Amino acid sequence: MAKALIVYATRTGETEQIGNLIAEGIRFSGHEADAVKVTDIKKEDNLKGYDAVVFGSPTYHGDMVQGMKTLLFMAEKAELEGKVGGAFGAFGWSGEAPDRIFDTMKNIYKMNMVSAPLRLKSANLGGGIKMAQDYGREIAEKLA
Ligand SMILES: Cc1cc2nc3c(=O)[nH]c(=O)nc-3n(C[C@H](O)[C@H](O)[C@H](O)COP(=O)(O)O)c2cc1C
Repeated sequence: MAKALIVYATRTGETEQIGNLIAEGIRFSGHEADAVKVTDIKKEDNLKGYDAVVFGSPTYHGDMVQGMKTLLFMAEKAELEGKVGGAFGAFGWSGEAPDRIFDTMKNIYKMNMVSAPLRLKSANLGGGIKMAQDYGREIAEKLA
């Protein structure tokens, strides 16, 4: 059984809900998953010991939130190369944050990324629950 860490930033709870559903999808596939707030990660050691690491941030003013930027610098030293990775976030209309996070994980940490980031307006809209759980399943498939 592999172990995944999902770290999310959120202002109004949408990205948190998506992160929890991704964790559920990973657990449905028989793996362990922890979903934590970005403020719970105090040092790079908190990112170690996982087979998959997934980061999520909503988009505000065309950007990810500051806490996620801080985490991305911290994660540079967390030895994530080759680990399974994914990125997600709630958005309203442009949704830049998940793409930027995904590209950092791929190009800087050299992680083994799933096919694309997950962007959802809300988990509660248009099949969002299943899409988030399926993203967890996709991460789990790469762990197999
Ligand atoms: C002041 C403000 C600025 C926002 N800027 C953007 C933006 O630039 N692009 C976008 O796609 N959504 C934008 N949004 C929408 C949020 O991304 C959306 O409400 C999202 O669900 C928030 O997720 P959270 O609950 O995880 O914080 C903005 C929302 C607010 C209140």
